Amino acid sequence: MPVLPISRMGADILKHRADDVVDAAAPAVASLVNDMIETMIDAKGVGLAAPQVGVGQRVVIFFVPAERNGSVEVPLTVMINPVIEPLTGVQAEQFEACLSVPSLTGKVPRWTKIRYSFTDLSGQKVVREADDFHARVVQHECDHLDGVLYPQRMKDMRTLAFVDVLQAEAIAKGKAVKVDEEGAPIE
Ligand code: NI
Repeated sequence: MPVLPISRMGADILKHRADDVVDAAAPAVASLVNDMIETMIDAKGVGLAAPQVGVGQRVVIFFVPAERNGSVEVPLTVMINPVIEPLTGVQAEQFEACLSVPSLTGKVPRWTKIRYSFTDLSGQKVVREADDFHARVVQHECDHLDGVLYPQRMKDMRTLAFVDVLQAEAIAKGKAVKVDEEGAPIE
């Protein structure tokens, strides 16, 4: 199971809609997912989409650490052909980071409550609801399948920043910036 190189912003693969997976239970999909898991762990991410490792297929993996979700962990989830439906008209802005946009962070509006459905590796359909950070991660990862990176969703580009600059400025003011696994400041 190799760690795969992660495509960065500007790469063609990150700009296009990924293809639907025809057979979610195919061995090639399981093999891709194994490589994606190893790559995500190596990169200390909480999510990864297949286009980020150069594969234009609608496959996403993610997990939500307990401390980011009211002490309720969302275990590692493999989503094939995921679909998102907003359950609210409300969006909230929070900092996000992305393994394909290293060192940077910015505030992104996302639906605060969603229903999402997907096919799992055994070919079964799964439907879940999510809010807050869980909903944010799912929306961020699924955007990768449509060729969208988080800066394209930002409303206020002045919040786009280098994480180390935010941290240095906070320290200079006697504060600390706590960042999540991928480097996004936690407010
Ligand atoms: Ni990302």
